[in-house]
Amino acid sequence: MSILITGGAGFIGSHTAVEFLNAGYEIVIVDNYCNSSPKAIDRVKEITGKDFKVYEVDMCDKDALEKVFIENPDIDSAIHFAGLKAVGESVQKPGLYYYNNLTSTLNLLDLMAKYNAKRIVFSSSATVYGAPKTVPIREDFDLSATNPYGQTKLMIEKILKDFWISDNTWSISILRYFNPIGAHKSGLIGENPKGIPNNLLPYVAKVAAGQLPYLSVFGNDYPTHDGTGVRDYIHVVDLAKAHLKALERAEKVQEVEYFNVGTGTGYSVLDIVAAYEKATGLKVAYKIAPRRPGDIDTCYADPTKAYEVLGWKAENNLEDMCRDLANWMQKNPNGYEGE
Ligand code: NAD
Ligand code: UFG
Repeated sequence: MSILITGGAGFIGSHTAVEFLNAGYEIVIVDNYCNSSPKAIDRVKEITGKDFKVYEVDMCDKDALEKVFIENPDIDSAIHFAGLKAVGESVQKPGLYYYNNLTSTLNLLDLMAKYNAKRIVFSSSATVYGAPKTVPIREDFDLSATNPYGQTKLMIEKILKDFWISDNTWSISILRYFNPIGAHKSGLIGENPKGIPNNLLPYVAKVAAGQLPYLSVFGNDYPTHDGTGVRDYIHVVDLAKAHLKALERAEKVQEVEYFNVGTGTGYSVLDIVAAYEKATGLKVAYKIAPRRPGDIDTCYADPTKAYEVLGWKAENNLEDMCRDLANWMQKNPNGYEGE
């Protein structure tokens, strides 16, 4: 039996590939490298000492994707990461986001049904909770989206549910990630944002490394302990391990299930600056800037369900996340392109 990992060259996909290989699974990766590098695949092989098949395929090309199923009849499950994920870009280019994220998913689901591989773990996001009325956020909270990226996540959650309603033999695990950061302890794989990063931690790391002059802290007048935005940061390796647990669960039950994947603890932007400085001994210069449109003040998970049902909980703390990110940055100052 083998597991199809879509978007397996990406940040979370590459870390998850390592965990599945280490756990003894056979994997097949599909990626078109639109936001990643084939070097991530070489690094996954280096870390694990294992080989596997990789297809450079755009999942919007259904014939090309079908070839993967035909050539690998032992695929019985998919971990579906492939998708575009930049919130701001999705507002500028909604057509691209709807086309890419929905078409690739519909092609995948149709082929999974055709080749009787009806078990899937899907990468959803805490963004589906919109602006939550209270925290911590539970899986049964109201859902909404404020941008096309978030809409694609909500739509795919709905599509998955409808597939299951039409055919109860699907096993579907929907993981709603909070804010993944950090990198593999080896420093061989990590986040590789192209250009100037949008997300906080890659930005902080580049400021600390002297590649950017200072961090703009987007707002210090939020109703939080220091006025800056609070998020639930989770180590990418902990997140990767949640996929193993979700797949084990999907091997047992034929349901659609939703799980928050976070630590349950919220840290502010200034907490992160202080933690990164402490973990690395480097200085993170910052300036207070206006709020970023669309941001919410506080977002953190109630991860109880993932613990009770999947037996998963985060093991790394904020210091581990900062240290591992800094290690990756130090070894790869220009990401995979630096080689
Ligand atoms: P990433 O961009 O590093 O990885 C996504 C991968 O999918 C990339 O390698 C990209 O090349 C590939 N891809 C995109 N469209 C494709 C297509 N049509 N065909 C084949 N490959 C395609 O992103 P990531 O951070 O690893 O995120 C993985 C998933 O998790 C995404 O679905 C994302 O929306 C979701 N997610 C990410 C975060 C986060 O903060 N990183 C938070 C919540 C949810
Ligand atoms: N922030 C700054 N300066 C920056 C970047 C971010 O102050 O240069 C602040 C933001 O205002 C926010 C916090 O840092 O308070 C975190 O911002 P990120 O952009 O890192 O993360 P978000 O929580 O805004 O969004 C991320 C992903 C979304 C995903 C969401 C929930 O980008 O795609 O987490 O998983 F939906």
